[in-house]
Amino acid sequence: MTKKIVANWKMNGSFEESDQWLVNFIDRVESANGALKNVEAIVCPPVIFLDSMSASIMDYSFEKLEEKISAQNKTIEDFKEDVLSEMILNGRPISLGAQDCHYENSGAFTGDVSAKMLVEIGAQYVILGHSERREKYFEGSEIVAKKVAICALQKIVPILCVGENKEVRDSGKHLEFVYRQLLASVPKGVRFEKLIIAYEPIWSIGTGVVPTIAQIKEMISLIKKIAKEKISEIADEFFVLYGGSVSLENSSEILSISNLDGLLIGKVSLNADDFFEICKKASS
Ligand code: PGA
Repeated sequence: MTKKIVANWKMNGSFEESDQWLVNFIDRVESANGALKNVEAIVCPPVIFLDSMSASIMDYSFEKLEEKISAQNKTIEDFKEDVLSEMILNGRPISLGAQDCHYENSGAFTGDVSAKMLVEIGAQYVILGHSERREKYFEGSEIVAKKVAICALQKIVPILCVGENKEVRDSGKHLEFVYRQLLASVPKGVRFEKLIIAYEPIWSIGTGVVPTIAQIKEMISLIKKIAKEKISEIADEFFVLYGGSVSLENSSEILSISNLDGLLIGKVSLNADDFFEICKKASS
């Protein structure tokens, strides 16, 4: 299974920095002699940078395709339009995602962005229910489930975050908490091609405190069990990621967890070189 390595920039960066990040990341992909094997890198910048990053990614992919086609002594005109656009899409060195969306397609929701708009701008993924949104914007699981549901209709892949706080962990009720939070955040009556669930213990996000491998494994196993038994009818494919203080140093050990499908990385992902190095470690 392809591992998903997700960069969550949160509210950081500028146009110039986002450009430079992409140039650095693509340079690293090039010098590593092509794409990362069995790894999908996904970058989720603030929504304002998506448009220009999407254009740069498509330009790069188009240039690469032109090189490939001319090496075969053919020209662009030799290919049908739909085949060409499929090849350009498949040649992207990195996928794009957003950090949130609204659950309606349009309407009187000042300041919000819909999943439909994100798709239009080139996003393939959207992080939903991140603990910072649950805590700072009081987003409950009911709202999160509605946001996840609109993704199924708009064909954008949700990266649904769940995780307990320190108090819950200390009380020993973390498994029960995540069980309930996950089921409450997953909508009924819709169908996804892909559904990504990220386990992000709040006590680990941005703190440098990382759960033990056994603690991560225990939670990933629980989420996979819930996915299999309770929500498998709504998605063809499930991926379960870990997020919280992932670094260059600890990423290999975390990635060695056999049932883990990838990582969601905050602070460290702001550095394109470090993010690339972690993607490389996930490659097989
Ligand atoms: P962190 O953030 O890697 O900076 O801990 C992870 C996240 O919030 O997604």
